[in-house]
Amino acid sequence: MHPLLSLSVFGLLLPTALMHVVDSPLDCIPRRSVPSNSNNALLFWEEGVFNYSTMLVREDLDLLVVGAREAVFALDLRNISKKITSVEWKVSPKQVEDCRRKGKDAETECKNYIRILHEMMDGKMYVCGTNAFDPACKKMLYVNGSLTLMKPEDDGKGKCPFDPFQKHASIMIKNDLYSATSMNFLGSEPVLMLSPYVNPQSGPIRTEIKSSWLYDPNFVSMASMPDSEKADNDNKVYVFFSETAVEFDCYSKLAVSRVARVCKGDQGGLRTLQKRWTSFLKARLDCPVPGSQLPYIIQDSFRWCDPSLHWEKCVFYATFTPQSHTSKISAVCAYRMSDIREQFSEGKYKTQASVETSYIKWVTFSGEVPKPRPGSCINSEAPNSEIKTTLDLPDKTLQFIRDKPLMDQAIEPIGGRPLLTHKGAAFTQIIVKQVQALDGEKYNVMFIGTDQGKLLKALHSEEMFIIEEVQLFTPPQEIKILKFSNKTGQIYVGSDISVVQIAPANCERSSTCFDCVLSRDPYCGWDKGEGKCVSVSSSQSVLIQDMKGNASHCPDAGPVVEPLYRNIRPGRILKLSCPSPSNLAKLIWKRNGIPLPHSPEDGLLILDNSDDDNNNNNNSGQYSCLSVEKSKAGEYETVVVSYVVRTSFENKSVTQAQSGGQSHSGLIAAVVFLVVCLVLLLAWKVVKRHINLPCDRTKKKGEEPQQTRDLEARDASVPLAAETPKNHTNAGDAPCQSEGTNPPGVNFSSMQFDESTI
Ligand SMILES: *[C@@H]1O[C@H](CO)[C@@H](O)[C@H](O)[C@H]1NC(C)=O
Ligand SMILES: *[C@@H]1O[C@H](CO)[C@@H](O)[C@H](O)[C@H]1NC(C)=O
Ligand SMILES: *[C@@H]1O[C@H](CO)[C@@H](O)[C@H](O)[C@H]1NC(C)=O
Ligand SMILES: *[C@@H]1O[C@H](CO)[C@@H](O)[C@H](O)[C@H]1NC(C)=O
Repeated sequence: MHPLLSLSVFGLLLPTALMHVVDSPLDCIPRRSVPSNSNNALLFWEEGVFNYSTMLVREDLDLLVVGAREAVFALDLRNISKKITSVEWKVSPKQVEDCRRKGKDAETECKNYIRILHEMMDGKMYVCGTNAFDPACKKMLYVNGSLTLMKPEDDGKGKCPFDPFQKHASIMIKNDLYSATSMNFLGSEPVLMLSPYVNPQSGPIRTEIKSSWLYDPNFVSMASMPDSEKADNDNKVYVFFSETAVEFDCYSKLAVSRVARVCKGDQGGLRTLQKRWTSFLKARLDCPVPGSQLPYIIQDSFRWCDPSLHWEKCVFYATFTPQSHTSKISAVCAYRMSDIREQFSEGKYKTQASVETSYIKWVTFSGEVPKPRPGSCINSEAPNSEIKTTLDLPDKTLQFIRDKPLMDQAIEPIGGRPLLTHKGAAFTQIIVKQVQALDGEKYNVMFIGTDQGKLLKALHSEEMFIIEEVQLFTPPQEIKILKFSNKTGQIYVGSDISVVQIAPANCERSSTCFDCVLSRDPYCGWDKGEGKCVSVSSSQSVLIQDMKGNASHCPDAGPVVEPLYRNIRPGRILKLSCPSPSNLAKLIWKRNGIPLPHSPEDGLLILDNSDDDNNNNNNSGQYSCLSVEKSKAGEYETVVVSYVVRTSFENKSVTQAQSGGQSHSGLIAAVVFLVVCLVLLLAWKVVKRHINLPCDRTKKKGEEPQQTRDLEARDASVPLAAETPKNHTNAGDAPCQSEGTNPPGVNFSSMQFDESTI
């Protein structure tokens, strides 16, 4: 059996708690979960328009240009809710008819999906759409507050996909369009193509249609190094994709992630490789997620460069998802530009060797490599060189590269492992922003989109740390595009149903100093004077911030928590809620200063039995809920909420009126429920004695990740029957985190019932 499969079966048979322990080191839990109703996002969508998946930030025009289905929008970059203008680009009825006759769906596939939006050197824009399976491109003008699509229309073949569901990538450099897509109707001819702007009649340069070059690829992104005046400017274009592997002995198709590159000045060969890249080289990208046998699949990449450093110091951040459906762990890996460069310029090549008669195997090429080195860029300025352009390359070099475009070694990520792994919704897009913290250091903050509409904000540091996750789209929608504007400092997010604009930080979400500092957000700091968590960039005060999570500079006493008064009626259950500021904190409930042995996360239930003669069952008193959060620097405790609970014998009639006469049946149901719980508890104890659960070990360490909690503070006196264990909604978490033995939401010890009363 497949190891992953056997693991999942194992997980079904054993308590899921055990399963969680197996992969808990791989699941980095976001410290804070922000629901969509408090995400402070600005929204744009238009009735009847979908698929907002292409974006161009025009800081020069203060516009966010958004490509959707059959339309392009120009939105105010400072507030995308303000539409400046838009232009439609629909397909004609005849085109729809042609498309439909070829077997495509008229309502979905035979529409024009805008897929390419680039800025040209003269300030115009270049727009391409799928155009009912007949891709086309046009120039677009923005003048006097309106967008105009210009004639003539260019052929979009090889630039833009035919199929709106097919992945693609493109980049425009000095008006030259580099595109990676499929160039035929069936989607069976993948290309990486250059459409030159000057001399378009000379025709495009592209890849060979050979499986050794591209084998069922899914293109995800493209990048080039920033232009610099330095002589050793990197004149190459990089493309990131996944494709069917050729290098593994495998009976079934296996996908791998790749980076390929071509040189900007490539004109193709003279006889061999005419109008084809002479500089196309590709290498495998590894993102080794512990416990996973199958290679991870790249979903997006982001080039991050420090403008003050050499381009070789640039880093590519990439999101990965598993190719096996049994795993739900996504990852981020980062690659040094210098490692990629070295692999292509110095690494060994792979070559085909036929083993037996028909079977082909790819092995390390150990023969003599011709000169000039196959795939290298031509330095036309090099003195005394006979080779001025790729047209001068000898056939030997060209034949070599035609047959062996794959490098032997894979490119390993920084640190040899992922920067981040997270269980749950699959990662899609990523952008990275450098932020200077108050300690003077610069930190890279990653913003990662998921297929469930969440935006994760994580720190690139030694250990994995997700500052928060923000739900942007409800119902959940895949995040299809992420952009950042340096000018506004805002993040723009596109999905099929709408576009959202959000600030990279919302410091006010932290209400205490501990919460503010433990969030380790380089954007935020605690203002002692104001007693507020504020944005570092907008404050003139001395702020408390510590990127390692050392909150010892916070004022000792937290804010004074005014107790809330609650009455409990005999025979009823009172629920006290405690909204934890952090998913990483542990909650501790105290009664009259003494910690209760169990502290449930979604509210403490108190049963009042003072109806009985036995007065010991009176549970009134002072309750306080503390959150205890650990960071590397220490352990910090804050009072979240405190209650004074009193038994009230009065207003019995009111009680009855409120409960609608259900208290009697409620009590019966309550007793039934308690019996069921008791049986479950006993069953658990029995099971526990037989299997020594590793879950218990984690519990002792007190490091088990906590669950996303209901952030609304709900406290109500509820009839017991209404209190069934809640199902936790966070798909990424296993129930292990809710205290081991009890069903979530029920706390036996604090009820302190004695069996005779049942
Ligand atoms: C476009 O959006 C619709 C509505 O959400 C969705 O059903 C469809 O799959 C999207 N199409 C593409 C090509 O993304
Ligand atoms: C953004 O624009 C919308 C529509 O004009 C307006 O209602 C809203 O108040 C604006 N929001 C901000 C933060 O400026
Ligand atoms: C823009 O507006 C100015 C003044 O109103 C006018 O002279 C110019 O022709 C307009 N340009 C276009 C392209 O419409
Ligand atoms: C970002 O914009 C600021 C001005 O708003 C500018 O000073 C800075 O150089 C820009 N940074 C980059 C990397 O473009």
